[in-house]
Amino acid sequence: MLIAGNWKMYKSPAEAAEFCLGLREEELDGVDVVVCPPFVSLAVAVQLLAGTEIAVASQNVHWEQEGAYTGEISASMLRELGVYGAIVGHSERRQYFGETDETVAKRVRGALDAGLFVIACIGETEEERERGATEEVLRRQLSVLEADDNLVVAYEPVWAIGTGKTATPEVAQQAHAFVKTLLNVSVLYGGSVKPDNAADLLGLPDVDGALVGGASLELDSFVAICRAGARIPS
Ligand code: PGA
Repeated sequence: MLIAGNWKMYKSPAEAAEFCLGLREEELDGVDVVVCPPFVSLAVAVQLLAGTEIAVASQNVHWEQEGAYTGEISASMLRELGVYGAIVGHSERRQYFGETDETVAKRVRGALDAGLFVIACIGETEEERERGATEEVLRRQLSVLEADDNLVVAYEPVWAIGTGKTATPEVAQQAHAFVKTLLNVSVLYGGSVKPDNAADLLGLPDVDGALVGGASLELDSFVAICRAGARIPS
């Protein structure tokens, strides 16, 4: 069971430090925990979580190890900092920053080759779900990925992200089972995971963890979700 907190563009280095100092005091046995701060807050998170089982991942990574790519960060730079993994292809990157299935594939490949763990995000928009295209979209997004020991997929229906509209357990289970017919990977659920719905979602047979946005920003709610995950028998 893996619980990853995607902080998005929240938490400066000072705020990240405060959160990590609190997190390292928590009892989190029985669950793998990852926090994903913005780039500038990675170093402090790595330092303050050193010696714990909690891993630190970035929210994006470039496919080349260096080069003329203004504004980008490479996997080897992240590795040097002590970063364990990276999120790739989050729907906000796809929606606002021109990320495509092809660039997602390149980023995933580059990150895996450089030794990073990768959380690759997929998911349909509301419009795609309404016109019955969910499976077609997931199939297309997954077609560029290959199974790897260091790769997990996060199924995040775009209509459920930051909206408070969580997929019902049935919808989530169906999508996760479908993903697993196409790719042999663990699948995290993401989209308005909160302490009060975490147990129901994480208890589904094909849900292997959660990628948590909003509720990962407060220590209490993030820890509550991690503990809900720890209680699910593996
Ligand atoms: P949310 O975000 O939990 O705030 O819906 C999830 C995500 O975008 O990863």
